[in-house]
Amino acid sequence: MPAAPSKVIVPKYWRGELERVLIAEHEIQTRVAELARQLQHDYARRELVIVALLNGTVMFLADLVRHLELPLRLDFIGVSSYGKGTTPGRLHVTKELKVDVRGRDVLLIDDILDTGRTLKAVSAKLKRFRPRSLKTCVLLNKQARRVEKIRADYIGFQIEDFFVVGYGLDFAEQYRNLPFIGVLHEKIYLAGNK
Ligand code: PRP
Repeated sequence: MPAAPSKVIVPKYWRGELERVLIAEHEIQTRVAELARQLQHDYARRELVIVALLNGTVMFLADLVRHLELPLRLDFIGVSSYGKGTTPGRLHVTKELKVDVRGRDVLLIDDILDTGRTLKAVSAKLKRFRPRSLKTCVLLNKQARRVEKIRADYIGFQIEDFFVVGYGLDFAEQYRNLPFIGVLHEKIYLAGNK
C-alpha cells in the first residue's frame, strides 16, 4: 500500500523539526490491523516465532502482536548500524537470539527495509538455525535505496525516499516516541547528531 500524502498536520510541539506527517496514527493503526489479519490467516493454528530487530520495531511489534491469536513466541535480535554502508553483509550483533527456532515457523520483523543489508544479513543468520519456514515483515518499504536483492513478504506501506522518523524510527535515537511517521526537516539531519 503506497503511503498517500497525509492530511494530518504536524503537532505544534514538533513543527520546528518535522516537515510533515507522512503516515498518520490512524492510518498506521488501520494498516497494522490489516497486516495482523493477513498473518492470522496465513499462520492459522501454527506455532509462530516472531523475531524482531531492535530498536526500531518496538511500536510496530507491540501493536501488531496484540491482534494475533496464535501460539506465539517472541524474541529479539539486536543489530547495530555501526559500520553500516561500509561493510555490506557484516553485522555487529548487540543481542543474540535466545529462542530455539530450529524446525519452527519464523517471522522476522523490521521497521524499515531500506538498502536491504540488514534484513538480508539477519535472514541469512536465521536460516543457519534451520527454521521450518522464514518470512519477513516490514512496516515501511523504501524501494528507491535498495542495494541488496531482497523483498519482504509482508509490507505495511511503500514510501518514497524521505528521511522518516517516528513510530519507532529514529534520528540520533530521537523521535521514536511519535505515534505517527513524520518527515524530518533537512536542516535537522544535515546538522548531524545532537
Ligand atoms: C535501521 C532500521 C533497519 C535498518 C534498515 O536500523 O531499523 O533495521 O536500519 O536499513 P537497511 O535496509 O539499509 O539495512 P538502525 O541500524 O538504524 O537501528 P535501529 O533499529 O536501532 O534504529
